[in-house]
Amino acid sequence: MKTLIATTFLAAAALFTVPAASAAGYDGDLEKANIDVTNEASLQRGANLFMNYCMACHSTEYMRYNRVGRDIGLTEQQVEENFIFITDEAGDPVGVGSLMTNAMSEDYGEEAFGVVPPDLTMTTRINGEDWVYTFLKSFYIDESRPLGANNEVFSNVGMPHVLWELQGWQEKVVDEDGNERLELVRSGQMTPSEYDRAVRDIVTYLSYMGEPMQLDRQRIGLYVLIFLGIFTILAYFLKKEYWKDVH
Ligand code: HEC
Repeated sequence: MKTLIATTFLAAAALFTVPAASAAGYDGDLEKANIDVTNEASLQRGANLFMNYCMACHSTEYMRYNRVGRDIGLTEQQVEENFIFITDEAGDPVGVGSLMTNAMSEDYGEEAFGVVPPDLTMTTRINGEDWVYTFLKSFYIDESRPLGANNEVFSNVGMPHVLWELQGWQEKVVDEDGNERLELVRSGQMTPSEYDRAVRDIVTYLSYMGEPMQLDRQRIGLYVLIFLGIFTILAYFLKKEYWKDVH
C-alpha cells in the first residue's frame, strides 16, 4: 500500500514538473510570454500578424473565420476584407463561414521545407505559450542551414525566419564568460520592445485559438460568482425566517 501511495505521488509530481517545452526537445530557459487573452486589441493585432505572416504556410483548420471575428470583436466585413486570402475552386474568396485552411499543398511544403508546416490551432496547448514566444524570438543567422537561419529553441528547424523584416537579424555570440546568447546585428522595422509586443500578440491569438472557450469561461465565471453572492443572501434570510419560531 505504501509503495502504491508513494508511486502515485511521484507520478503526480512528475506530471507537474515536466515543462511543456519538452515536447519540442529544448531544456534551456524560456522567456515568459505574459499574455492576456481578454485583451481584445492584442488579439486583433495578433490575428492580423498571423494572417499576414503565418497563414501562407500554416493552417488553423479547426477554426472558422466568422467565429474568430466574432470572438475577437471584428465584423464579418472586416474579416472578409483583411483576413481571407484563399479562394475556392472557382477562384472566388472563400466565405466567412469556412474553415481556416491554407493554400499550400502538403507536397509543396515537404519539398520546400523538408517538412509539412504543421497546423497551429493547438500549438500553444502542445508546446506551451512561453515556448512559442521564445521560439519566435530565437531565430539567428546560420549559413550552414538551407534557409540561412537556425533557431535556439528548435535546432535545425525547417521554418525560415519569416518575421526578419520586423525583428532584423540576430547572431549567436559567445560572451566573456563563455555563455552563448543571441545579439541583434541588423535591426528591423521594429525596436526590440515593439517586436516583443508583436510576438506577444501572436501568442495571445494562438492561445485563444487553442482554447476559444477561455474567453467565455471568464465571463460566465463572473456571472456564476454574482449569482452565488445573491443566492447566499437569500439563503441567509430564508434560514432566519425558518429558525425564528424554533427558538
Ligand atoms: C514559409 C513557411 C512558413 C511560414 C510563413 C511560417 N512557418 Fe512556422 N513552420 C514552418 C515549417 C516548415 C515548420 C516545421 C519546422 C520543422 O518541423 O522543422 C514550422 C513550425 C512552426 C512551429 C512549431 C510547431 C511544432 O509544434 O513543431 C510554430 C509554433 C510555428 N511554425 C509558428 C509560426 C508562426 C507564428 C508564423 C508566423 C509568424 C509562422 N510559423 C510562419 C513554415 C512556416
